Amino acid sequence: MAMSSAFASTDTSYEEIRLDLRSWPEVVNYLEHSKGVILPIGSTEQHGPTGAIGTDAMTAQAVALEVGRRAGVLVAPTQSFGMAEHHLGFAGTMSLQPSTLLAVLHDLVISLATHGFERIFMINGHGGNIATAKAAFAQAYSTASLRGLSVAPKLRCKLVNWFLAKPVMQEANRLYGDREGQHATPSEISLTLYLTPSLVVKQKPLPTPAPAGPIHGPDDFRRRYPDGRMGSDPFLAKPEHGGVLLEKAVLALGDELSNFLGDS
Ligand code: NI
Repeated sequence: MAMSSAFASTDTSYEEIRLDLRSWPEVVNYLEHSKGVILPIGSTEQHGPTGAIGTDAMTAQAVALEVGRRAGVLVAPTQSFGMAEHHLGFAGTMSLQPSTLLAVLHDLVISLATHGFERIFMINGHGGNIATAKAAFAQAYSTASLRGLSVAPKLRCKLVNWFLAKPVMQEANRLYGDREGQHATPSEISLTLYLTPSLVVKQKPLPTPAPAGPIHGPDDFRRRYPDGRMGSDPFLAKPEHGGVLLEKAVLALGDELSNFLGDS
């Protein structure tokens, strides 16, 4: 499995399940045999002094494409901007306010539901999106019903967090123990190194991080966690760990997707 080519348009296996490469008649044909779609959702935010700003979007997309490829389920383009207000004290972070993200996710779900998609499976790479995504689902169910969409009674949305999948957390604990931390974790950084090997040379030993703790606004975050990390040691990250973590995430989320598609 050549995951380094996950984002290359020449990868036939991924081409087959990418919504952005399909024509509308192909989507109509797809809907005749499947009502499921995967939407990767991430964030564009600082990941410590050595991690890529796109970490949460890259990782969610990679997991989503591989889950979709194995299941033959379409994967929508990644929603790469998430709720990252608390990271705005660090250069390069681009955040949507919770109310904006709620509106975006609501509109994306309703767009898909309008065409007949009944099962929207969001694969998430960022903890800060969770509360807002769930609120968006509640609003989308209401809108689908009020607009009288034919799929309304059958519409289901589900958010799954690849980094919280039990086998992923167990492996992260085995590899890194409490140096996994809460943000800019070696597990997520490992996956980015696996996907984009050119990032490896940027990794370097870092001083002891501030311990993980509360998160408030951007100024408070910067004061508590001056280099952006929360209790993590991303220098432990290795590309080969990323490959293992990806496989564990894909297997766990693939099972969840299969149950979700079969739900009544
Ligand atoms: Ni992250």
